Amino acid sequence: PAHLSIAVVPGDGIGPEVVAEAERVLDAVTSAAGVRVDKRRFGLGAQHWLETGETLTEQTLEELRGHDAILFGAVGAAPGDRRVPSGVIERDVLLRMRFALDHYVNLRPSRLYPGTTSPLARPGDIDFVVVREGTEGPYAGNGGVLRPGTDAEIATEVSLNTAHGVRRLVRYAFELAARRERKKLTLVHKHNVLVNAGRLYSRLVEEIGAGFPEVAVDYLHVDAATIFLTTDPARFDVIVTDNLFGDILTDLAGAVTGGIGLAPAGNINADRTAPSMFEPVHGSAPDIAGRQLANPVAAILATAMMLEHLGLPEQAARIEAAVQQDLAAHGTETRSTAQVGDGVLAALA
Ligand code: NAD
Ligand code: IPM
Ligand code: MN
Repeated sequence: PAHLSIAVVPGDGIGPEVVAEAERVLDAVTSAAGVRVDKRRFGLGAQHWLETGETLTEQTLEELRGHDAILFGAVGAAPGDRRVPSGVIERDVLLRMRFALDHYVNLRPSRLYPGTTSPLARPGDIDFVVVREGTEGPYAGNGGVLRPGTDAEIATEVSLNTAHGVRRLVRYAFELAARRERKKLTLVHKHNVLVNAGRLYSRLVEEIGAGFPEVAVDYLHVDAATIFLTTDPARFDVIVTDNLFGDILTDLAGAVTGGIGLAPAGNINADRTAPSMFEPVHGSAPDIAGRQLANPVAAILATAMMLEHLGLPEQAARIEAAVQQDLAAHGTETRSTAQVGDGVLAALA
């Protein structure tokens, strides 16, 4: 494409700090490629809510739909901030976007780059992708509270899993595994306890896997998956899993591959009926916000994922190579957010 229109949502906390670096990198690679990028900035998040009382209006959602993709930082107030009830922003902004724009694949790659340090004794050659479900599971908002405030209170969040949703997720995961070198797919669930959803996932993996004889399939319960993610993460190639399990596993995956500040994510609408959204795995990190302490690499790699999705794989590869080069040279140095951006830009040039 000669022209891209990108919605930019910096959000709260470190969101604006890391997105600023991602934008510099985006501008550099697209202008070098002769691609014009029109960016429109959207003020969404806890700060915006405090100022306007709005989370995400129908109109803003419609405006977001008009873009080729969304570059997202992070939203969410500090956990102790009493002005903002927990989760209002996350659910009404972030999850609402994922649901409304049908981001059914939450794609979260993990690689251990040279120059970064894993806390693991023998990390091995880590390179896997978590294909996390993005629009269902316990995130569906299905549940409620009976007799609140009493000893008889019953609070439920019912996990919603549809054959349609799981099938399209699993198909995406198999297609991805088939394109990768090791061609291995691990279903992570908890079908010993979550019998109904577990059976649905298992059945569809078996059914769809029949069409991908070249892909080796195995299964782990999610608790055991956390063992192997810390003792032998190199064994994984493609992991397909439920929304909540995928959330938890990908913070762990970030931590074992050099830190959460390096882990990108794509919220993908693979049918392309609405723009996909690219963001770091991490949140707004109120504990370090406003001090140039955040690592912008996750946001920068999310930008690479965005360009790949938008049909600019060479520009995506350039960004990834520049990040690798910069990490190999400076990965363990203490640098400000902008200094890391400078380093990646220097590696690009
Ligand atoms: P978090 O990911 O914001 O932070 C967890 C820890 O990781 C903190 O110690 C933080 O300083 C560190 N960290 C995160 N990103 C970093 C980076 N780029 N560089 C260096 N260190 C980094 O998770 P949390 O503290 O549980 O959540 C904070 C807020 O963010 C909450 O309101 C939460 O709901 C929200 N959140 C939003 C998103 C999102 O917008 N996608 C994702 C996760 C959490
Ligand atoms: C993530 C975040 C979100 C999630 C929250 C903030 C709703 O943790 O993107 O991983 O649970 O999906
Ligand atoms: Mn998370």
